[in-house]
Amino acid sequence: MDLQLKGKTAVVTGGSMGIGRGIARGLALEGVDVAICARHKEALEVAAEEIRKESGRRVLAIPADLTRAADAHTFVETAARQLGRLDILVNNAGSAPGGVIESLNEDAWQQGLQLKFMGYVRCLQKALPIMKAQGGGRVLNLIGNDGVKDSYWEIVPGACNAAGQNLTKALAGQYGKHHITFVAVNPGPVRTERWDGLVKAMARDMKLTYEQADQLAPRSIPLGRIAEVDEVANLCVYLASPLAHFVNGTMIEIDGGQQKPLMDAARG
Ligand SMILES: NC(=O)c1ccc[n+]([C@@H]2O[C@H](COP(=O)([O-])OP(=O)(O)OC[C@H]3O[C@@H](n4cnc5c(N)ncnc54)[C@H](OP(=O)(O)O)[C@@H]3O)[C@@H](O)[C@H]2O)c1
Repeated sequence: MDLQLKGKTAVVTGGSMGIGRGIARGLALEGVDVAICARHKEALEVAAEEIRKESGRRVLAIPADLTRAADAHTFVETAARQLGRLDILVNNAGSAPGGVIESLNEDAWQQGLQLKFMGYVRCLQKALPIMKAQGGGRVLNLIGNDGVKDSYWEIVPGACNAAGQNLTKALAGQYGKHHITFVAVNPGPVRTERWDGLVKAMARDMKLTYEQADQLAPRSIPLGRIAEVDEVANLCVYLASPLAHFVNGTMIEIDGGQQKPLMDAARG
């Protein structure tokens, strides 16, 4: 299938590892020139070089901390200027701490909202006028199934995700007339670099061994396993393509049919 992506340009936040890197790679392999950002310059440049070598496309590595408005704005503007246009924005860099309400302090809530929600808002603030001026564009927001499938240990991600999902749908209503379309992708657990850290945090908070905590997510998924990065990246590359143009103002779960209450039940 020709995804009709050749010659397009994309900005992917958090492209140095995990899902963001998988999406940037997948887009580049389909002929897209890409700009990626992350805080750590060295890892970002390594990722960019590897994608460049494999795909033969332009891959710009622009360090930025999206918890800072100025960094986010400069990243999007610099990327769009250097790439020549901005066809696809993938808001992906995000994380929010797990934990139960009585142990989550003000900082934990701020930390989640600053990156997982405001990081997306900041990139949109600069990308949308550029897309409007050029006559259209595509926005993919990598959110998370916590926003639609609640869990008491994931209330910060849940709140940030629900906000991002609402934003995705609301903006689709506003920008359709400018040919800018939006879709949210809601992964469940995905085996990325930070998965190990999440399992350790669950084990600590729930007084489980690492092995017990590592079994919580697979037990809640009918397929008995968590997702691999490429499974999410492949869906996103299709969704970024003109073939998915009519998938707009909506969201798609990619979580193997996860049943969150099974995780909570196992936690007791
Ligand atoms: N993995 C999962 O199980 C899962 C499940 C549901 C939803 N998601 C969502 O999917 C997205 C990707 O997750 P992931 O697991 O692939 O993450 P990851 O492996 O932790 O990678 C995160 C990427 O974002 C960058 N980043 C982190 N903080 C940043 C900041 N302040 N400014 C700019 N870049 C920053 C990281 O690089 P630096 O550290 O160098 O900045 C890295 O490139 C996130 O939005 C996450 O919430 C993931």
